[in-house]
Amino acid sequence: MKHYLSINDIDSLPDWVDEAINLKKDPYQFEGLGKRKTLCLLFFNNSLRTRLSTQKAAMNLGMEVMVMNFGSEGWALEYGDGTIMDKGTSEHIKEAAQVVSQYCDIVAIRAFAGLEDKIKDEAEEVINGFAKYASIPVVNMESSVGHPLQALADAITLAENKTKDRPKVVLSWAPHPRALPHAVANSFVEMMKRQDAEFVITHPEGYELNPEITQGCRIEHDQDKALENADFVYVKNWSSYTDYGKIVSKDPNWTMTKQKLGTAKFMHCLPVRRNVVVEDAVLDGTQSLVAQQAKNRIYSAQIVLKKILENL
Ligand code: CP
Repeated sequence: MKHYLSINDIDSLPDWVDEAINLKKDPYQFEGLGKRKTLCLLFFNNSLRTRLSTQKAAMNLGMEVMVMNFGSEGWALEYGDGTIMDKGTSEHIKEAAQVVSQYCDIVAIRAFAGLEDKIKDEAEEVINGFAKYASIPVVNMESSVGHPLQALADAITLAENKTKDRPKVVLSWAPHPRALPHAVANSFVEMMKRQDAEFVITHPEGYELNPEITQGCRIEHDQDKALENADFVYVKNWSSYTDYGKIVSKDPNWTMTKQKLGTAKFMHCLPVRRNVVVEDAVLDGTQSLVAQQAKNRIYSAQIVLKKILENL
């Protein structure tokens, strides 16, 4: 594997999950693999889990890590080909990617969707630009349309907690005061399509995700019906895809409650707005897996870095 840009870069999800669970038991078993190799993390957006878990994963493999908040500290990048750069941008991604490639062995990038221009967001100019012009592997730490490190951590968490071969897993939309991207939901759906599970997506009408991603999935607009006999409930807000980037409902009836959750395990990628997305009783209860998901971010990043290092 050269780059890890999406869930599609995983050749066998069950094998990767097994390997990650094995790494978790003895995180330093490959600590010589990354010796004298450097990982560079470029953040165009904020982070807590991704930043620290990816650094920890690299350290477990013996790598050096450099971190830059590119969005606030780097030069404003130009992405267009042939652009006359006489406006706000100072540096072209062609030079930036080549330069970064000389300082490190792997570059990981976080660059969220702007949620104003669907075509621009789906072009993934930051991560695809680096993948095009860098001469080193690129890892997606959440791009406009995907968060594959999170989805891999979620797959690990599902494997660790499932008590039946074919669990029922529900992805439920929840209200949020701000318009959020689709990346986490998209990658979770893509990951679930590779699982042996009864998978249901539930959201109010108007919150349909990209139909190319949800193709083949059951979509149920009645949340109560979707939640019946669920084993896992993954809650996430996203803005409208059709009315791109807009909030078309903040219906508080979609907030996840202890009563709605029933006996299911609760999942969320974090950060989460308490008592808007999910009530305290769920997050503070024993059915919440959110801390375990966050811990598994180390091992999802570690398995990805390990596979890239093995191919350098
Ligand atoms: N889940 C996740 O990616 O968290 P951060 O945004 O804090 O990195």
